[in-house]
Amino acid sequence: MALQNIAVLGATGNIGTELLREVAEKDAPGLDKHKNPTNLIATASRDGILVDPRGLSIQNDPALIARLQARDIELASQGKPRTALRDYLREQKGYQEGATLGDLFDVIRNQGLIEDVVFIDVTAGDLTGFHQTVMENGGRIVTANKVPVAQSSWEVFKLLTEFRTKYGYSCSVMAGAGAVPFLRDGFDMSDTVESIEGCFSGTLGKMCNLLYEGKVTFSEAVKQLKLAGDTEPDPRDDLSGMDVAKKIVILARTSGYEVNLEDVEVEPFVAGGFRELSDIGVEEFMAKSKIFDDEIAAKFEAAKKEGKTLRYVASLKIENGKPVVKLGLREEKLDSPLGSLKGNGNKVVIYTSAYNKVPFELAAPGSGTSITAGNIRRNLLEQLENRKM
Ligand SMILES: NC(=O)c1ccc[n+]([C@@H]2O[C@H](COP(=O)([O-])OP(=O)(O)OC[C@H]3O[C@@H](n4cnc5c(N)ncnc54)[C@H](OP(=O)(O)O)[C@@H]3O)[C@@H](O)[C@H]2O)c1
Repeated sequence: MALQNIAVLGATGNIGTELLREVAEKDAPGLDKHKNPTNLIATASRDGILVDPRGLSIQNDPALIARLQARDIELASQGKPRTALRDYLREQKGYQEGATLGDLFDVIRNQGLIEDVVFIDVTAGDLTGFHQTVMENGGRIVTANKVPVAQSSWEVFKLLTEFRTKYGYSCSVMAGAGAVPFLRDGFDMSDTVESIEGCFSGTLGKMCNLLYEGKVTFSEAVKQLKLAGDTEPDPRDDLSGMDVAKKIVILARTSGYEVNLEDVEVEPFVAGGFRELSDIGVEEFMAKSKIFDDEIAAKFEAAKKEGKTLRYVASLKIENGKPVVKLGLREEKLDSPLGSLKGNGNKVVIYTSAYNKVPFELAAPGSGTSITAGNIRRNLLEQLENRKM
């Protein structure tokens, strides 16, 4: 039985906890289900690390993880910090309070295990340096965290992604639905990308659908989505477009185009005066967001008169041989691939030299803890060598 060891960075977060639960329920060694079970040997959060190269005992008790997860979801819904899983891990023998990811790397290297562990990054931090160290030492990574793939330099992106079976990053876009693997295969096959267009923000998609219905103003829609937990804690993080910008940079780079975040022409969801409101508190921004109501209502009215709606679209086009990457609100016909999106759905439409008449299209949820954790486990399968069926 060959075990696939994993170390989960960000184990106490939303995705991390769901991943731990799914691994314990479906993949752990004690289940005797897989020929290559997943063996959880370490967890890390900002507080500290827990490592046991034989496997952490928590992976043998999915019901316990489910209880801790339910408690954390309850705490978060009350606006309190998620402490249930964190406190449990802290009480375990061998927990190293205050230890960093660098310490975790050293422990695993000293055990001679660097090439036999997949580090799973489900943080949202700038872990670029850590990813580099792992890859330079012959290690493996699966990441849902966009930062190291979108915000690093082009050279670092190439270094990280050099060995496709050692670095899985498909979960950084569309929660792992398959846009990255399609483009990665295409690049390897010299199937040149001619254009990419897509809606990559479930939050902004939902916002467009609410505003099209016309029952609420922009400021009311922001408030409604924030209350439902559909926005980032600071909705400006969604409205600025920067999260979408990172996703289109990842897709452009995967297609072989040298594109950096600074190259993207970003038009925020709301135009006039948005950037001037970046220094105020969230509550003050929520109160001031009324100033955008008329501008947004007028845009949706104008689109409706043409039988269209609005979508926040990211696009890559090749102009004079160079990639041009843009984001902004755009009118779309109601029956078009992007105009017809429902709820918080994401979609990407890709033309390549092979897919030049009918594009490759992919629609999928762009977020969701279970979808994302499942696709991280899918990435783990790709990294198994000598897989037994
Ligand atoms: N939610 C989705 O549906 C979805 C879909 C696709 C991709 N993603 C991506 O997945 C990642 C995780 O999302 P999430 O919703 O689970 O976030 P989250 O709930 O905020 O969890 C983040 C976790 O990362 C830990 N962390 C942050 N910086 C760290 C560091 N430097 N070292 C060690 N641990 C660190 C945090 O620990 P502390 O609690 O100690 O700070 C926390 O446990 C994000 O990058 C997100 O963009 C999410």
